[in-house]
Amino acid sequence: MKSKTVLVTGASSGIGEAFAYECAKRGANLILVARSEDSLSNIATKINELYPVDTNFIPMDLSVEGSAQKLFDKTKEMGIEVEILINNAGFGKWGSFESFTLETYRDMLQLNINTLTELCYLFLPEMRLKKTGGIINVASGAALMPVPYAGVYSASKSYVLNFSEALHNELQGTGVTVTCLCPGGTKTNFAEVANNQVKVDESIYETAEYVAQVGLEGFLSQKSYVLSGKQKWALVLLSRLLSRAQLLRLSGKVFKRIVSNEKT
Ligand SMILES: NC(=O)c1ccc[n+]([C@@H]2O[C@H](COP(=O)([O-])OP(=O)(O)OC[C@H]3O[C@@H](n4cnc5c(N)ncnc54)[C@H](OP(=O)(O)O)[C@@H]3O)[C@@H](O)[C@H]2O)c1
Repeated sequence: MKSKTVLVTGASSGIGEAFAYECAKRGANLILVARSEDSLSNIATKINELYPVDTNFIPMDLSVEGSAQKLFDKTKEMGIEVEILINNAGFGKWGSFESFTLETYRDMLQLNINTLTELCYLFLPEMRLKKTGGIINVASGAALMPVPYAGVYSASKSYVLNFSEALHNELQGTGVTVTCLCPGGTKTNFAEVANNQVKVDESIYETAEYVAQVGLEGFLSQKSYVLSGKQKWALVLLSRLLSRAQLLRLSGKVFKRIVSNEKT
């Protein structure tokens, strides 16, 4: 990673912030992107104090149509060539389908799916030309199954997983890698944003630092996808052993309890 330029979306907190520190530790230069300018500025200052790397930040709302092109153009204006793209920005909502506005779902789909796809499309040609670098797309353990009470979110992350795996295969032999990171529960602001009434059991959650390390190591060993999370093997096993109907009943039961704050 030394001297590579890495663009991290959603770098103002959580897993994206942890990716930024982990990449800087390994000698990479950074472009940090999110909406919160102050947080990005503070993180960039701290990273520059700790590591001898160049850290730039671009405040931007990536749920706005056309923002991917705007971000790409901005990097060109700055004379920066992105060698590794980490598509991490995303959010979910936990609750019954109709309890959130259409506007919220539009933003979620624009951010989790459209902007992510467009950024891959825009930054990939340079990577292909240089025959190096690649992309880490952040999906979720929820990508492995339909999740009632988080239906739009889990479906958006299934898209990210399927799209990333397909691209990984298309790019074999080009020197460019695409890895999908599927985190399980991770201690970040995610749950608060998803539903601040829900009390999550943080004892089964991983730290953002650990999850970012799993993602980077998976990418550096050219895996098509990697899972993190204390229950990852149970998740994989259940998604392979149970019929879709059984899996749906189970995830529905578990998530109904989660959103009603009952013990699971
Ligand atoms: N934490 C978990 O348990 C978990 C599990 C599975 C998957 N994930 C995935 O991991 C990724 C990172 O989430 P996290 O857990 O680190 O949560 P987080 O702490 O809430 O971080 C989300 C990041 O995305 C940015 N973001 C949100 N909306 C944005 C927008 N419209 N434009 C630009 N940036 C935006 C946020 O920054 P601003 O608010 O400053 O814009 C923040 O930097 C997400 O894709 C999430 O779906 C998380």
